[in-house]
Amino acid sequence: MKTDLVGTSGQKEDASNEKMMGGIKSLSRQGSLDSNGEDDRATLILTLILCNVKKIELSKAAKVFEMFETQIHHFETRRAKKLKNSADDLDIFVECEVHSADVSILITSLKRITEDIKTSREDKVPWFPRKIQDLDKCHHLITKHDPSLDNGHPGYADLEYKKRRTFFADLAFNYRAGDPLPHIEYTAQETATWREVYRKLSSLYPTHACTQYLDAFQQLEKHCGYQEDNIPQLQDVSRFLKERTGFQLRPAAGLLSSRDFLASLAFRVFQSTQYIRHFSSPMHSPEPDCCHELLGHVPMLADKEFAQFSQDIGLASLGSSEVEIEKLATLYWFTVEFGLCKQNGSIKAYGAGLLSSYGELTYALSNKPEYKPFDPEVTAAHSYQDEAFQPVYFIAENLEDAKAKLQNYVMKIKKPFSLHYDPFTSSIEIMNTPQTVKRTLHQMKEQLKNLCLTLEILS
Ligand SMILES: [Fe+2]
Repeated sequence: MKTDLVGTSGQKEDASNEKMMGGIKSLSRQGSLDSNGEDDRATLILTLILCNVKKIELSKAAKVFEMFETQIHHFETRRAKKLKNSADDLDIFVECEVHSADVSILITSLKRITEDIKTSREDKVPWFPRKIQDLDKCHHLITKHDPSLDNGHPGYADLEYKKRRTFFADLAFNYRAGDPLPHIEYTAQETATWREVYRKLSSLYPTHACTQYLDAFQQLEKHCGYQEDNIPQLQDVSRFLKERTGFQLRPAAGLLSSRDFLASLAFRVFQSTQYIRHFSSPMHSPEPDCCHELLGHVPMLADKEFAQFSQDIGLASLGSSEVEIEKLATLYWFTVEFGLCKQNGSIKAYGAGLLSSYGELTYALSNKPEYKPFDPEVTAAHSYQDEAFQPVYFIAENLEDAKAKLQNYVMKIKKPFSLHYDPFTSSIEIMNTPQTVKRTLHQMKEQLKNLCLTLEILS
């Protein structure tokens, strides 16, 4: 969840970026903060102060602009007026144009090579998708656990595996909303890895998973090819979910930035990886893979209450500040990924990180870990682990209660507007005037009237 390294549009930011002392100021920008969802470009005027700049370090700053396909209109360097450390300090003036969806991440990436950053843009609303097609721009990757960059990844030294991963990444980056989901011919080795994971995990589900999960899992075995000798196709699974809760899948190339991942949930879209973990480590993957998505996430997305809970986190994330995104990502982590709930006098798992990990599922429901009641205010501020078992698990009374608590929490996030999701057009309506609120209210009144009439007839 931590955004250590972020790339875009099929590109990955260089893992070797190191911090340089300095600062950056965004003086002005136009055309991007109205979030109109169009394919717009934003003009940025930036002043950066890079300290102790050597040639190679300056090129790293330039590379960030290159990564985001920034069109540079003017690039000027001067010896820094306010010298901090050395005569190598530089003032850099940049006038450039970048896609609105990339503004926030471009500046975040520039911040990684500077310090003491002040930028006026943080007071404004970050770009967010307004229609389902805008999710084509929401695929910024976190490359922390990428097999090509992380020497601790089980597939780091396996050229064949990395080649296969490039194939999956290309499928995801070339995918556009509305396309059929890619059909994969999984190899015998990939299916063998799936078999091992499937056998081991499914032996735990009857005693460890919540009833919502078990009901859906049974249906998935019946309708979507969930078997130990078959890796289900995303297309079949997406169709299944769409019929039950309106959720649908789209392929993802790897671990996504929290902002992009959460934004897709607002549209009831779940970004799912399609590749499988390395065969040498079937019981553990440092990054999401199809075992995690299909066995961990998918069954719960078939539950109406849980689907609404997921969409509510997604809607709350749209246009939120970096601080709020981090809190929402933490909430997501301790619920959707590692959540436990009370059920028939015992504790059961509903989190995908648990339901796709034999070791942690066993640990979470042993008498070893610390438990706390789910309280969004407390949960959102809690530190979490992405490389070991969680230090604490949060227990929901039930999914309905968790949803109600979450809804109370997100109401307190300060934004200059409210958002309404229109399921007919799969788009987000911004409610920032009495007229827009009245229009939505009118539609709801009509629906309510029809429901009341139906109730009258029935009773
Ligand atoms: Fe996940």
